[in-house]
Amino acid sequence: MLLARKGFDTFATMRNLNKSKEIIDVAKKENLPLQVLELDVTDGRSVVDAINNILKGKDSIDVVVNNAGYGLMGSLEDSSLDEIKAQFETNLFGAIRVMQNVLPIMRKQKTGIIVNVSSVAGRLGFPMGSVYVSSKFALEGLSESMSYELKQFGIKMVLIEPGVIKTNFAFIKPKKALDTNSSYSELMNKMQENLFSTIANGTDPKEVATVILRAIADESPEQRYLVGNDALALIDARKNSTDKEFENIIEENLLR
Ligand SMILES: NC(=O)c1ccc[n+]([C@@H]2O[C@H](COP(=O)([O-])OP(=O)(O)OC[C@H]3O[C@@H](n4cnc5c(N)ncnc54)[C@H](OP(=O)(O)O)[C@@H]3O)[C@@H](O)[C@H]2O)c1
Repeated sequence: MLLARKGFDTFATMRNLNKSKEIIDVAKKENLPLQVLELDVTDGRSVVDAINNILKGKDSIDVVVNNAGYGLMGSLEDSSLDEIKAQFETNLFGAIRVMQNVLPIMRKQKTGIIVNVSSVAGRLGFPMGSVYVSSKFALEGLSESMSYELKQFGIKMVLIEPGVIKTNFAFIKPKKALDTNSSYSELMNKMQENLFSTIANGTDPKEVATVILRAIADESPEQRYLVGNDALALIDARKNSTDKEFENIIEENLLR
């Protein structure tokens, strides 16, 4: 919405168009250059169709924001391989699918910027986050490496690393973790309590949009943008602590 308000021809994509009413109403009311398209990042056909639909009316794609994601929250042991694969299918392979289809277009244009919405969890681990965190670590490594490959074509890569943001972010528990007999129940309950209270006090999602806009507008963007005071404080602590000290910080803050 912010990009459309700033005059970007914007294609807001979603896998379920039944959720599009609000954004379409606002776009109409404000006469914004925004269209809604269906796109499920786990479905290659859907990605290709969405990009083809964009190119029916436009001859370039200048900016891509890979934002789709959810969090599988539970211990590795309680997470089934299918649940882990599904997490990576959305958070990592979803972005890969979109990038592999859009890169030939950007390469021909000799310009473009890809914004991958990672997380502060792309830089540090936390209990019950092993699967989500590893999907974001993978996205970070992928994006960082790609930036070297793409420089020669004038394509920029940016990572957005929010801390806790007040959204409807879906935390999905692995089926096994719903069982109260799970050996990880106590740890899970502590984490859940802490996560829900931190989300209620999370950063306004508008700040994420503002940072994305800043990154896009920058001729020479940073590789990474942290969003939220919590993210800044955590990365600062990470930089200034040994691994052992940082482990204590995480445990004191998340498992108290
Ligand atoms: N909220 C936080 O504290 C936080 C912190 C750091 C990073 N992030 C990251 O920020 C991004 C956005 O999350 P959010 O907090 O804004 O949560 P959100 O409101 O739930 O947004 C995530 C969106 O991803 C969509 N999505 C999920 N699977 C998809 C798929 N297969 N194809 C297309 N779209 C799909 C969801 O669609 P549906 O509505 O259909 O489910 C939802 O609209 C995520 O990558 C998340 O990891 C969030």
